[in-house]
Amino acid sequence: MSENVSLHRRSLLTRRQFLLYSGLGAAALGLSACAAPPLPATLPAASTTPQATAASSTAKSADLTFRLTVKAAEVPIFAGSPTRVLTYVGEVLEGAPDAVMNLPDSYLGPIVRTTRGQRVRVHVHNTLSEPTNVHWHGLIVPAEMDGHPSRLIEPGQEAVYEFEVRNRPGTYWFHPHPHERTAEQAYRGLAGLFLVTDEEEAALGLPAGAQELPLILQDRRFDRNHQLVYIAAGMAGMMEQMMGFLGEEILVNGRPNAAFSVATRPYRLRILNGSNARIYKLAWSDGAPMIVIGGDGGLLERPLTYPYVMLSPGERVELWTDFSQRKAGEEVKLVSLPFEGVEAGPMQMMMAPEPLPNGAAFEIAAFHIAEAVNAPLALPEQLLPFERLSPADAVNADHPRTFIFAMDDQMNWTINGRRFEMDVVADDEKVRFGATEVWELINVMDAPVAAPNAMHHGAHMQHGGAGTMGGMMAGMKDFMAHPVHVHGVHFQVLDRSVDDAQRRGWETVNEGLLDSGWKDTILLMPGERVRILVRFDGYRGVYLLHCHNLEHEDSGMMRNFEIV
Ligand code: C2O
Ligand code: CU
Ligand code: CU
Repeated sequence: MSENVSLHRRSLLTRRQFLLYSGLGAAALGLSACAAPPLPATLPAASTTPQATAASSTAKSADLTFRLTVKAAEVPIFAGSPTRVLTYVGEVLEGAPDAVMNLPDSYLGPIVRTTRGQRVRVHVHNTLSEPTNVHWHGLIVPAEMDGHPSRLIEPGQEAVYEFEVRNRPGTYWFHPHPHERTAEQAYRGLAGLFLVTDEEEAALGLPAGAQELPLILQDRRFDRNHQLVYIAAGMAGMMEQMMGFLGEEILVNGRPNAAFSVATRPYRLRILNGSNARIYKLAWSDGAPMIVIGGDGGLLERPLTYPYVMLSPGERVELWTDFSQRKAGEEVKLVSLPFEGVEAGPMQMMMAPEPLPNGAAFEIAAFHIAEAVNAPLALPEQLLPFERLSPADAVNADHPRTFIFAMDDQMNWTINGRRFEMDVVADDEKVRFGATEVWELINVMDAPVAAPNAMHHGAHMQHGGAGTMGGMMAGMKDFMAHPVHVHGVHFQVLDRSVDDAQRRGWETVNEGLLDSGWKDTILLMPGERVRILVRFDGYRGVYLLHCHNLEHEDSGMMRNFEIV
């Protein structure tokens, strides 16, 4: 029942969105470096509401201050008519002018470059006709700066986010987080990269400049007029909402048919899966191994070799890719290999066949070796050391805090049997500042929907009547993968175990699971239990834990947790 209500609401909003676009029309043209008029040095001041922070206006000056304007725009994605999108436009107000770089001809937001220890202040101006906000995915920032869905920037308003960059050198990102609207706002274009460096990293001499390639992977669906298509009305749309939205056009940095001209030398690829629901099994078309140098939480201790890399929504991976053994004129492709097990059995049979289901094979980007150069650069044996957590550090080594990711008999996605509640933190969702805990993330069939530590709340799952949709779905708990994301912390993977019933699909992905280094998002496969070690040493306050399949998140697979 509640699902219907939220779907109805969604389609109303979609229509409003459409009005917004058509109303702005060509006036909203922007982004394209050559076509767009240059931004004025200072935008007209918006009515300022210090929503995100009251302290910022009086605080000392920041090392980097920039404006992010959230706006509707049109970008040329295909030849012919441009595509209406949402976009972030960045503009440095104070600090290094090249610290915020807009991407030409792309809806994707700017690439922000910072140094660890810097103070960053961001004026976010919402010119949309609906509320939005910004979450700094992977960055450890105070809870009131984290883009919690209760802190929104109303249409026409501006908010200020301010924080110190505490993270290890690596690849982070930002996107909106308004409840029930995250998926569509991100889908329509709102996302950007936030890179962090420091002296130690610089001393490694990794490929930089033209040899550093950020690759944001997204799948989209377009109509014949090149306009983005999102969740449709009716049964098909209901299934897309339930499973997560998949597009059949693969975009890299907002562009289709991505191709890069490279030279015979090493490159640093910073790859973000910015898709709503698509999972990639990244590999090189010629079978060359993937050399991983970094993940969600920055650079690894040392490079690791993978046959392929699984990248679920929200996850990042950094690759060292050496083209120096290749010849000018050659080409190699970054592809996604086929895999199984992430959308299991009966559910898929109920769906109209999707053009490009999760697990299908496709090409992502071509790399043309355009130039032979002699610029040898060795892969460093050591990258950046980090502290390894062990169960002995945890306050609950023998009693992990459990989180069950499942669908209830109302077909709502839940965590421990609960949907997202804006202002609620249950007793078993409070953790101690400074503590290290073992968390067990569970996606298995025989787990009760309510976790043992949440019994007082939801009790056991009740089966719907036979023959009802709920009845059919009841008990189908482990039929989808969930990319589990935790705000406000990073964690380390302790171990994984998988049910025999789901092992066959799991074995098509398990060698590519990114479990090394610090993580903030992790692929939880059907049939799996994953134990992670989490240390709450950032800030106190209310943060989020959710599935980063953005349709799952919007339909309630999200909870607050509080660091007290
Ligand atoms: Cu990238 Cu709460 O999300
Ligand atoms: Cu996040
Ligand atoms: Cu999910």
